Amino acid sequence: MSDSHATSHVIVNNKPLRIAVLLSGSGSNLQVLINAMQAAELPIEIVGVISNREDAYAITRAKDASIPVAVLSHVASGKRMGIKTFESHASEQLNAWQPDLIVLAGFMRVLSGSFIDSAPAPMINLHPALLPAYKGLDTHQRAIQAGERHHGCSIHVVTAELDAGAVLTQALLEVNQKDSADSLQARVQKLEHQLLPWTILLIAKDVINLSNQGNENKATYLPALPLKLWLDK
Ligand code: GRF
Repeated sequence: MSDSHATSHVIVNNKPLRIAVLLSGSGSNLQVLINAMQAAELPIEIVGVISNREDAYAITRAKDASIPVAVLSHVASGKRMGIKTFESHASEQLNAWQPDLIVLAGFMRVLSGSFIDSAPAPMINLHPALLPAYKGLDTHQRAIQAGERHHGCSIHVVTAELDAGAVLTQALLEVNQKDSADSLQARVQKLEHQLLPWTILLIAKDVINLSNQGNENKATYLPALPLKLWLDK
């Protein structure tokens, strides 16, 4: 992570944490953040949403909350946008919004290392599995097939290697005998809706200090990461 990130997420003068969200789909996690922001339950301001799909329901959720949205799905000729073009537009947009934190919530494209490194803020991703297990897609199906007793979701720092950055937080559940991939997805998503705001609160309050990741020399009073929650009672 570059030096420009070092203090970018620290709340100055109790100002809310400025968050940009990248997504591709329904945006139920975005909705949780919108609700928490509107209810003043989280010290955040969602400064913008970027969708790489024009049909993402999340766009409606953002617009209903008067949050600026950039839809980066197609180029002017009507062709689907390549990743390089997407990244160049997304960079421009993020630099204009100047977020303190970039949240990938159901964002389904793989970003390049140069985009991640030059982003104006640290980036975190919500992943529907207990990393380092089950990186990539179809996590619920794979967990069932492997006969896992436990499953859940993780929030990790985004790095060039897919789903491999430092894991910050996790929420766990017990897999039931009768669980299908669909039922597990629904149960994990409920955990996500608690894990994401909780993690952002920890970042906003500096309990999780993203500038400390990988910096052994810096004094830290933090508990060892990842912080784990057992939420499914
Ligand atoms: C979540 O289940 C997340 O784990 C995965 O994509 C889904 C996004 O859901 N990466 P939503 O768009 O927030 O409803």
